[in-house]
This record gives sequence, structure tokens and C-alpha cells, in this order.
Amino acid sequence: MTTTENSSAPAGSFVSEVSSASLIVTCGPGGVGKTTTAAALGVAAARAGRRVVVVTVDPARRLADALGLDAGAASDAPHRVTGLPGIDTDEATGELWALMLDAASTFDRLVHEQTANQKQAEAILENPVYRAISGSLSGAQEYMAIERLHQLYTSGEWDLVIVDTPPSRHAIDLLEAPDRLIGFLSHPVYRTLTVGQRAFAKVTNAAASMFLWAVRRLAGPQIVEDTVEFFRSLANIEPGLRKRAGEVSVLLRSDAATFVVVSSPRAEAIGEAEHLIGALRDGDFPFAGVVINLIHPMPDPLTPADRAALADIGEGPLADHLSWHDELTDLAVSEREELAVLADLAEDVSVVELPLLAVDVHDVAGLVGLADQLVGGN
Ligand SMILES: Nc1ncnc2c1ncn2[C@@H]1O[C@H](COP(=O)(O)OP(=O)(O)O)[C@@H](O)[C@H]1O
Ligand SMILES: [Mg+2]
Repeated sequence: MTTTENSSAPAGSFVSEVSSASLIVTCGPGGVGKTTTAAALGVAAARAGRRVVVVTVDPARRLADALGLDAGAASDAPHRVTGLPGIDTDEATGELWALMLDAASTFDRLVHEQTANQKQAEAILENPVYRAISGSLSGAQEYMAIERLHQLYTSGEWDLVIVDTPPSRHAIDLLEAPDRLIGFLSHPVYRTLTVGQRAFAKVTNAAASMFLWAVRRLAGPQIVEDTVEFFRSLANIEPGLRKRAGEVSVLLRSDAATFVVVSSPRAEAIGEAEHLIGALRDGDFPFAGVVINLIHPMPDPLTPADRAALADIGEGPLADHLSWHDELTDLAVSEREELAVLADLAEDVSVVELPLLAVDVHDVAGLVGLADQLVGGN
């Protein structure tokens, strides 16, 4: 792995991750390019000859189109990405596949896998409460992103699984998702609702009674029965869910996995990225490095002679252009100060800086350009 001392040193690169990791998780604040980076790392790995699948969570429309992902498609099965230069040849071994995470389908698959028979699975899958919450349960997107990662990883079909992360309020939510699922299964309300065959009327735990009372008030008695039934049938697969959450938690900390933190050079994003790096290190998650994306290019500096010549231009388009040049320079300077803090914090891992491009990354060629920068190509 390459190391950068500071932001002016040559950028580190993700060559070793792309060529040897089995799992890469891109995480970071919202809107900084996590999905784009996940796709670009996938392109780089496929071009390095690997069979790669990228799990995207919320691809921007144009990126989804570029990856051949149809937002309306019912399936979250991997789909082969075509048109990649260098790998669409007979000799090439690399393949890039992509899919869009569908939390509800992933949950369904988990239920099927954990139940003893079809009847048990249907009891859960057809329960209206399950249908209502499986896609929107708080934290479900985070948990299901890593559950999908686990499904793909253990299928043995892929050299590398890359997982993009949901646009959480806090990027750290993803790391805590398995523990939160275990915590939920240990919660007193959940425990009471799933104990033995006790009828709802006999629920004595105060918190659980309150919970059901609130549900009844909001939604009527039928939903209470469905809720109790749902939690009961979930209890059948609880040991399996617990075991799986534990396995996922171990997998994310294993040598097979690695995390890449994506940030922009803006102060709020840098703050969150720093927090996330601390959490990765505290939680013993393997941490490969940082991508600092969307960096404004530094305008060419004006010489004192230029300044002198421009001193008396008065108002007009040229003056506007000059003040815009100065503003952009200030912004570029302050971004470099901000990102130097992050680069210092990550000095023992790869740090790659990516420019803000004039256009969105919306096609395969754009991804190839970013991929080359991520692995230190041209
Ligand atoms: N280096 C870049 N230059 C220009 N646009 C970019 C760059 N990286 C990402 N984008 C664009 O920014 C938007 C957000 O990127 P995305 O990867 O979806 O972010 P996130 O997944 O972190 O929310 C997308 O429209 C994407 O095309
Ligand atoms: Mg995204």
C-alpha cells in the first residue's frame, strides 16, 4: 500500500485493495461520491482481471443508466456491465457486474434461508406487518446492505464484492447495524412479545403493553394481532438472525474486508470522515484509505504584473471574471487546508484526491477515468 505524507505528496493508490481484497465497503458523508467511487473501484478491479460485483444503494439516475441498472426493475440480482474498454475481449478474464440494493428482497432472502420450511417462511413473509416494515425498518437499509454483502461473499461466485453504503444520517450507522439488530432482538419489548404462546391479553410487561396499546390506538386491533404474530414467527428465526449478525460483524473485521472512506474537502464532510475513521479504527475494522473527491481545481495564479495590469479595469465582464478567479482561488486554498487535516489523520493508509469534474460521472468512460486515478493509472 502506498503512503502519502501530506496532500502535496504523490497520491497513494488503491492498487492492492483492488487486486487482492475480497470485500470493499465505501462509506462516508452524504453526496460526496460513495456510489461513484464504489463503481469506479469495481471498474478498476475488473480491468485488473477480477470478477467483481458492485452493490449500489442509491445510484444517481445517470450512473444507474451507465451501469445498465433499471430503477424500475423488480430484481436485485447482479447484472453484467458491458462496454468496458479492455475487458470486453475474448482474452480478458475481468468482469464487472452491478446490482441495486433492494432491502426488502434481501430481507425476504434472509427469512427463507433462516426458516426450516416454506410454511414458516410464508408465515413471516405474508404477515402485513412484515410487508410494511421489511423495507423501511429503521436501520434496515444499513443492515441489509451488509447482509447482501454476506450473501454475495458466501456464494463463492465473486473475486471481489464492493458495497456502497446508504445515505444515512450518520455514516457510522452501517458499522453498528449488526450490533443494533442483536440489540433489537434483546430488547424487553421484543422479548415479551415473543415469549412462549402467551396471548396478547396476558402480556404483562409494562413496556410491551404500552407498545401494543399505542399500536392498537394508531392502527386498530387487527394490526395488534398481526404485530404479535409477526414477532412470534420472527422468534423462530431469531437464533439464526443473531448468528448471522454475529457472522457479518466478524466478516467486516476480517482480513477479507476493507473500508474506503470517501469525503469531499468541505469542512462538515471532513469532520464526519474524521469521526468515521476514528470509529473504524476503534472498532478494529480494516481501513484501506481515504478518497477525497470533488476537489476544486486551483486556478493559475496571477503574477504581480498581471495584477498591476488589471488594477484599473473598472466594472465589466473582465472585472467579474477577475473576482470570480479570486473567489475560486480562495475556495481552492481553503479546501486544501481542510483536506490536509484528513490526509494527516490517514497518513499510514492510501489517500487519493479526485478533482471535481466539469460534468457528472455519467458513463463508463467517466468511471474508467476515475478508476485510473484511484489505482494510479493515467
Ligand atoms: N469527481 C466528480 N466530479 C463531478 N461529479 C461527481 C464526481 N464524483 C461524483 N460526482 C457526481 O456527484 C453526484 C453524487 O455522487 P454519488 O456517488 O451518488 O454520491 P454519494 O453516493 O456519496 O451520495 C453524482 O451526480 C455524481 O455523478
Ligand atoms: Mg450513494
